[in-house]
Amino acid sequence: MAQGAPSNTAGPVADATPSRDFDTVVVLDFGSQYSQLIARRVREVGVYSVLLPWDTPRHEIANLKPKGVILSGGPASVYDPGAPILPTWVLEEELPTLGICYGMHLLANALDGTVESAAKREYGSASISTIESSPLFQGLPDTIDVWMSHGDHVTRLPAGFAAIAGTSNAPIAAMSDGRRFGIQFHPEVVHTPLGRDLIRNFLVEVCRCRTDWTADHFIDSAVDQIRSTVGDGRVLLGLSGGVDSSVAAALIHRAIGDRLTPVFVDNGLLRLGETDLVREVFGRAFGMDLVFVDASERFLSNLEGVEDPEEKRRIVGAEFIRVFEIEAERHGPFEFLAQGTLYPDVIESTSPDTKAAVKIKTHHNVGGLPADLSFSLIEPLRYLFKDEVRAVGRALGLPNEIVERQPFPGPGLSVRIIGPVTAADLALLRQADAVVREEIDALGPESGVWQYFAVLLPIRSVGVMGDDRTYGRVCAVRAVASEDAMTADWARLPSETLARISTRIVNEVHGITRVVYDISSKPPSTIEWE
Ligand code: XMP
Repeated sequence: MAQGAPSNTAGPVADATPSRDFDTVVVLDFGSQYSQLIARRVREVGVYSVLLPWDTPRHEIANLKPKGVILSGGPASVYDPGAPILPTWVLEEELPTLGICYGMHLLANALDGTVESAAKREYGSASISTIESSPLFQGLPDTIDVWMSHGDHVTRLPAGFAAIAGTSNAPIAAMSDGRRFGIQFHPEVVHTPLGRDLIRNFLVEVCRCRTDWTADHFIDSAVDQIRSTVGDGRVLLGLSGGVDSSVAAALIHRAIGDRLTPVFVDNGLLRLGETDLVREVFGRAFGMDLVFVDASERFLSNLEGVEDPEEKRRIVGAEFIRVFEIEAERHGPFEFLAQGTLYPDVIESTSPDTKAAVKIKTHHNVGGLPADLSFSLIEPLRYLFKDEVRAVGRALGLPNEIVERQPFPGPGLSVRIIGPVTAADLALLRQADAVVREEIDALGPESGVWQYFAVLLPIRSVGVMGDDRTYGRVCAVRAVASEDAMTADWARLPSETLARISTRIVNEVHGITRVVYDISSKPPSTIEWE
């Protein structure tokens, strides 16, 4: 949405107002970390959805002709001074409404029910049992596991509402008056296993939506939006060879053809063989004139001695932009800079779209932009999650070797060397990482591993090789299962694979004498170590 765009940009383009051949449901954002996940779950069912700030003007909502509205959760309590309130149009428009957690409290409060602080904050899994039949729970078992995360709860129903499900701790876990629904739990998170079915029930049984929104629809509306944003202008794009920038390139290329110039920068922080692979694949798959720049020396000298991960991100981000500016002069003029920023990058860097989300890491393609940026930004994937981007990539006809690539952070190996980055450490890490990737690749997609890599630690450890004592570096192996990088679980790799990785690294990478396996999940740990 335009409100979320920095003032010096043309604004993100992925939330283009949809054409009217499919149904739309609006998600109002009251500040939950999961708000965008709700919109994404709705799209998974095949209904177009947009996430809008809770105080979006009524006429903007009306333009979308929504068939229903979902009120997100949020960190506030309805009685907090200055807390977000329920816009009056939500009650006046008489649309089917689903209030989730804080959204339920808002409904109850606005309709003269009572919301109170619970004696004990409820956080984690709970079982809810249906009390009476309701379209929301149609086809679901009488008891389902759900994810709770709340301090307040509804203690007295508004007039005309009935409790439709409860738990031992929250007798009113779900309420409805037939058109409006309030639920105390979060159906959008994976910890509510049947949450998707419940959302589908709301969309299909209550809102009567058609479920025909697809990646092709996204492409059509994004292409239209890119054309209208760019006009006759030209676009410069940083192509890393990863899924995000590749899909952004293909999408923008479809919209404006040769007025897109993709630039591939070797920043010296790439994985083994990556530069050759990217040049080869892109020459073949895209038929675009790729501009290749070897800027590794410049990146490494700027990173010299830098230990702080946020500083590394800032430097890498700023250097990327500087390099683009040089290339823009050389190949320009360009009015626009395109980036493959995804929603998880946005939410974890805190943007105005997610007013209440707490900053966790600054992803270079959001937070590291210098203030004197001289391009307008185009970020067509800004509201999508990784697997949605893959679906768009497939629909655009990109080859599997690009669409299925595991994510790789923009700051590259600089955030996988804990401490200062040196050319020697980069060489060690590259070799170790290649072993990790080879061995896990060999397991095939059935392994369910989503992202895997090596991390070089800044400690030395004693070992023995032959008759000699060694005192070498320690490398950590990170492998996680995830759906969208928002949460991740450490991968239960076969012990033979772990054994092969360890033996090979210690034997093949001279300088590493110990290998450890990271058994942390996200949260509380993040996927990357820095
Ligand atoms: P974390 O470590 O935050 O990572 O759990 C989530 C996903 O994002 C990737 N990542 C980054 N991507 N710039 C990026 O473009 C970054 O600075 C960055 N840091 C982490 C990470 O590899 C994982 O897939």
